Amino acid sequence: AILASSLTSISVAASSNWSIEDDYTSAWSRQQAEKVALTEETTAPIIDMDFEDVAPDVWVWDTWPLQNRDGSLANVKGYRIAFALVAPRTYTWHDRHTEARIGMFYSKNGKDWTYAGIPYDYDNALGHMQWAGSAMLDEKGKVHFFYTATTDMNANGGKEFNKDGWVQRAEQRLAKTTFDISADKNGVHLTNEGDHQILLEADGHHYETIEQFQEHGNIITGFRDPFFFQDPNTGEEYIIWEGQAGTNRNDLKPENIGDKEYRDTHTVPDHAKFYNGNIGIAKVLDNDVTKLEILPPLLESVGVNHQLERPHVVVKDDTYYLLTISHEFTFAPGLSGPDGLYGFVGEGSLRTDYKPVNGTGLVVANPAEKPFQAYSWWAAPDGQVISFINEPLDENGQVQFGGTFAPTLKVSFDGDTTKIVKEMQAGEIKPFGPYGRSLR
Ligand code: FRU
Repeated sequence: AILASSLTSISVAASSNWSIEDDYTSAWSRQQAEKVALTEETTAPIIDMDFEDVAPDVWVWDTWPLQNRDGSLANVKGYRIAFALVAPRTYTWHDRHTEARIGMFYSKNGKDWTYAGIPYDYDNALGHMQWAGSAMLDEKGKVHFFYTATTDMNANGGKEFNKDGWVQRAEQRLAKTTFDISADKNGVHLTNEGDHQILLEADGHHYETIEQFQEHGNIITGFRDPFFFQDPNTGEEYIIWEGQAGTNRNDLKPENIGDKEYRDTHTVPDHAKFYNGNIGIAKVLDNDVTKLEILPPLLESVGVNHQLERPHVVVKDDTYYLLTISHEFTFAPGLSGPDGLYGFVGEGSLRTDYKPVNGTGLVVANPAEKPFQAYSWWAAPDGQVISFINEPLDENGQVQFGGTFAPTLKVSFDGDTTKIVKEMQAGEIKPFGPYGRSLR
């Protein structure tokens, strides 16, 4: 299979794909982003307001399953395992980010989940808080636990002033630890916690550092959400994350705006260039995933959107879908789009010429009448999409706080189009993978 697919990529190479080391970054242009729009195929159904809290004592948000190296869902003595950001409900909904930890959940049927608490000693963990990541179970039974080590957002009053206004100080670095895993009739246990180590920091060139951000940055800096990914076509392994453009890309280039006709007929608001999101990638150099080689970003949204959060990949044969979540409030001046799961599609290799899927770029969007009902969608290799209930409006139009698993969606991927085909139960995960195949 590897031979067949590498032959195919050779034949496509002439047109649009690059080797992973090449300095080619696709741009999500302002011209493309003007096409963002809700459609029937990509708008999620309205979530019922009588949802249950999966873990009543904690707020639950960004969620990811334990995967095997090849991306398939791990099965530990019949249990499925998921991790999610958690914070005690004694903190307000909005303060939860400042005290985030990673909690563990397990389930035998993939529908009824037991909350098992925080599996690590957070005095050993790096960062004041731990933000989103991913988790991989290797062939020797070690859990590789990737996360974002984030500094205290409340230090020095939490905010700093730069020439453009108030910005949030929260330095982020990519980190990991390891565990052994076991399961018995009492559930799943993570033991033998390893050292916590920093895997990667922003280099300032391709990826903005906090110091560079403080010069002119806006909203919040981004170097977070490490996602472990083994390319099914090459066997190479990568860490992919949310970054922001460093010194070499912090001005608008023609490709950030659009084609010549578009550029001649549109003016770009001055402040737009400070919205400098990108999707970072590093090559994994060792079997224990401790040595990484930082590479130029796969995609950037300079001038378009400040945040391409929790990036991840779905592969179907030679077609690569680069998926990321983004918010309405992080679109650059002059552009708009809903909170949603956005997707970019390209052929032949992971570093390719990515174009927005469906013409609109949207894979899953909240319905217009409930614009913030869910967030942090994450697509499994077979198109099951999990997320959390965020801030749905009740029947009186009042904001409610969710903090629990949202109904899973099933999305089909077909060429450069996608479609929501089914709504499943809250938090439901069926066995999946390797890429594009369901185990059932
Ligand atoms: C997405 C996100 C992630 C981050 C976490 C912090 O919902 O912003 O990018 O890791 O939430 O709470």
